[in-house]
Amino acid sequence: MSALAGRRVVVSAGPTFEDLDPVRFLGNRSSGKMGFAVASAAAARGADVVLVAGPVHLPTPPNVTRIDVRSAAQMHAAVTAALPCDVYIGAAAVADYTPVSISPNKLKKQPGQDTLTLQLVRTRDILAEVASHPKRPRLVVGFAAETHDVETYARGKLVAKKLDLIAANRVGVEGSGFESDENTLVAYDANGATTLGPGAKSDIAGGLLDLIEARLA
Ligand code: PMT
Repeated sequence: MSALAGRRVVVSAGPTFEDLDPVRFLGNRSSGKMGFAVASAAAARGADVVLVAGPVHLPTPPNVTRIDVRSAAQMHAAVTAALPCDVYIGAAAVADYTPVSISPNKLKKQPGQDTLTLQLVRTRDILAEVASHPKRPRLVVGFAAETHDVETYARGKLVAKKLDLIAANRVGVEGSGFESDENTLVAYDANGATTLGPGAKSDIAGGLLDLIEARLA
């Protein structure tokens, strides 16, 4: 029997959209495919899965409880409300900054204004907060999306955010990271690294869950 059977697993997936006004937002390229693949694979292994999803166009995997959110603040609230759990997997691409305020009306071009400066404020780090929460899950697994120096940044996040495991992927290249159906992950922990893929995100998700199961057994 899978070590995930009967465990409560919370997965975040997709982007967050940070509204500027009623018609515009700041977003990113996450499709949700990687996080949905993880949620789907965990449910197939018998886990009780809560999937907190940013704005994506994907069907809900079988036997998964889905909570749709839009902004980083909403994702933070939904993930926190889903605690306690046995495993938290943060696959979402959460905005690091959000507009200081949302204009109630459509922002208009001003005559003679050729540039526009937006004032942004840091969002709360959901993953780091979950890892330091009084109801800390037994395992907290992060992702790292990097264009360069992947191992250095991933290992930095592993330590700074107090994670058990971090799955790093290259973004900004074909066949990996955002939007693609394929990916390659390198999962780092305090002791070493395991490469998963290249392959379909569904297969990579299975490999990541094998690593998680080994830590739960
Ligand atoms: O959705 P797809 O199109 O399938 O693409 C998959 C993916 C590239 C989005 C996915 O594999 C991935 O890498 N997800 C994490 C993207 C990301 O935001 O990485 P980061 O290095 O900026 O953040 C590090 C970790 O902190 C992530 O686990 C993130 O969820 C978490 N975080 C970041 C900021 C914040 N405010 N709160 C967080 O929880």
